[in-house]
Amino acid sequence: MQVNEAIRSAFDKHNYELLGEIGRGGMGVVYLGQHRKLGRRVALKTLTPDRSTKENSIRRFHREAKTFAQIRHPNIANLFEFEDQGAVQFLALEYVEGTDLERERRKRRKWKYDEVAEIIAKLSDALDHTHKKGILHRDIKPGNILIEKNTNRVVLTDFGLAKGDQDESLTAAGFAVGTPAYMAPEQITDQFGLKPDGRADLFSLGTVAYEMLTHKHPFLASDDLNTMRNIVNGKVTPLRDVDPAIPPELAWILENMMEKDPKNRVPDAATLSQRLNTWLAKFRSGEGGFTPTTPVPYTPLTPAPTSRASGSTPQQAPSPTPARMPIGLIIGIVIGGVVLLGVGVAIGVVLFK
Ligand SMILES: Nc1ncnc2c1ncn2[C@@H]1O[C@H](COP(=O)(O)OP(=O)(O)OP(=O)(O)O)[C@@H](O)[C@H]1O
Ligand SMILES: [Mg+2]
Repeated sequence: MQVNEAIRSAFDKHNYELLGEIGRGGMGVVYLGQHRKLGRRVALKTLTPDRSTKENSIRRFHREAKTFAQIRHPNIANLFEFEDQGAVQFLALEYVEGTDLERERRKRRKWKYDEVAEIIAKLSDALDHTHKKGILHRDIKPGNILIEKNTNRVVLTDFGLAKGDQDESLTAAGFAVGTPAYMAPEQITDQFGLKPDGRADLFSLGTVAYEMLTHKHPFLASDDLNTMRNIVNGKVTPLRDVDPAIPPELAWILENMMEKDPKNRVPDAATLSQRLNTWLAKFRSGEGGFTPTTPVPYTPLTPAPTSRASGSTPQQAPSPTPARMPIGLIIGIVIGGVVLLGVGVAIGVVLFK
């Protein structure tokens, strides 16, 4: 394998034998290594040499290391070591042997409804843990979610864009960070009048769940700008319009994660986990049978349209248009205006006669 000499010698210094490459991201390459004395396999996340000299990249990398170090949760990759001396910087993370949801998405893996609910519930638990520590992940997307091969353990990774309560330094106010297709509306616009909080991560997680279930992205357009417009204004095609067999209560829970206004969304990760686990327990015990005819215990905030747009795909989410008034209301306003004008004219005539 062709590897930069500086990287190889930095791994050597820490007793890591380089076994291969696992993945590539925006910041650098992730290698598979094995500790020569402990035998433990690790994911060695590096900063590419050209970024290793850029102050902002280094600060971000340090911040990722510090964030990982604050977290200990079965559904979050564990940090073993951090090297920041010399030309090469790397994180030695617990190696999760298996796959990530991005690879599974590309293979168009068909997920069962309860599998999706379980994965999302586990990720909610992980986010509940970080949010309670004041840490927002801000880059929830399929490539950052790993599934361990033999155990099916779900592991969240990549805290490269995470933000803590006290952190203001790396992102100027109003500057959107994240992967456009998985951002929450409040990460893009300040129209809701609130700074993004944990609910933004839950919106992103809802987008991931939608894609897992339908193989369609709810907001994706031909370019980032239109994708972001769809996130802020576009209507999500209801899950059951794409797949009518999706249990209605599950559809409601997941669609609620993608409510535009955070105030209408599930309030926090713990509530989301509890909703999903309650649904899972009922679904798996067969109790109540979540068939489309079963009454849904929640009221959907965005009712499904009465007629189904056949062949419509979420990719073709309507381009943002200003909210329209119903025609009856417009006619009422016009008639009301004419009547008021008539009354005004009559009063005027009486007064100035
Ligand atoms: N601990 C791990 N165990 C196994 N594979 C991992 C681990 N960490 C990362 N990977 C793999 O490496 C890929 C890139 O890692 P990561 O997302 O942390 O890097 P990144 O440079 O921040 O990526 P991006 O900028 O694209 O989000 C992941 O998508 C995953 O496939
Ligand atoms: Mg990543």
